[in-house]
Amino acid sequence: MLFDNHNRPITYLRLAVTDRCNLRCFYCMPEEGIQYVAKKNLLSYEEIERLVKAMASLGVSKVRITGGEPFVRTDLMKLLKAIINIKGIDQVHLTTNGVLTRKHIPALKAMGIASVNLSLDTLNRERFAAITRRDDFDKVWATFESLLVHDIPVKLNAVVMDGRNTTDIPAMAALTKDHPVSVRFIEEMPFNGDGSHYPRLVWNHTKILQVLKETFPNIHKKPDPAHATASHYAIPGHQGDIGIIAAYSRTFCGSCNRIRVTAQGELKTCLYDHGVMSIRDAMRAGTSDEALLDMLTHAFRHRHKDGFEAEKARGAALPIHESMSTIGG
Ligand code: 5AD
Ligand code: SF4
Repeated sequence: MLFDNHNRPITYLRLAVTDRCNLRCFYCMPEEGIQYVAKKNLLSYEEIERLVKAMASLGVSKVRITGGEPFVRTDLMKLLKAIINIKGIDQVHLTTNGVLTRKHIPALKAMGIASVNLSLDTLNRERFAAITRRDDFDKVWATFESLLVHDIPVKLNAVVMDGRNTTDIPAMAALTKDHPVSVRFIEEMPFNGDGSHYPRLVWNHTKILQVLKETFPNIHKKPDPAHATASHYAIPGHQGDIGIIAAYSRTFCGSCNRIRVTAQGELKTCLYDHGVMSIRDAMRAGTSDEALLDMLTHAFRHRHKDGFEAEKARGAALPIHESMSTIGG
């Protein structure tokens, strides 16, 4: 296992397979969408496999496939199977918006997917359409139900947005009563293609917890698994649990074990950095496996201490405004 320069093990890769998406979530993209990467500039499936094998040899054992929306890329299931079969990769997880996912669920189960994170910010169809700018709530809900039926561990990701879905917090949290689901409330970050929506984030982790406590007075803190970004809570009598992710307040950087690769093959050692090397360019320049491992190791040993330091290092010329769809969720 490889440790970074702050003594954190690097074991978790978040890999974006596309920057394209069939939704236009308010917190992720402007209504007109973003400039997508040309196909030839995306990592090919062969390049992705080479990259994951290299990471596995350095100690990465968990991979999450993200996007954009992973299922808009052709033959995603083939790639998932290939990644699941890589030696050293113990767990492959998937983050999806659920619109195109349902028909693949039996095959996901059969190949041994470890869990699925579903993006769902509201249980109300109109608010869903307003937030995602598409009327696809029913498809996402059908995906959620099918994941439960197939006994695939499922987490719901809800980004909390002032004035858009904060009234949904109690109902979303209440889903944990009858379903073995983890509902996670995420602070909104300025990764939406435009920059910050607010002068100051009102709905931070403290305020989200306050609403949960008002609704469920006996909610209590649970221990967090190692390297978790969510702070976990349980409500007595509920099957599922609740997480609050301080994605903007960045309270969890001290135990961060994750690195990211964007759809175009840029390595990010922090969500808030601007990319530390192009793995794609290195591979396409004919870099040997050995040299590639050296480059990755070097990058892992020069990580920023936390998301604030990474953000500062961008400088004034590169403020945070890229879409989460470009970065990889
Ligand atoms: N702020 C917080 N979370 C975001 N996500 C996407 N954009 C943002 C943002 N600006 C999360 C969504 C989705 C996952 C891919 O990333 O919850 O589930
Ligand atoms: Fe698509 Fe996910 Fe971004 Fe929504 S948050 S637009 S589902 S990539």
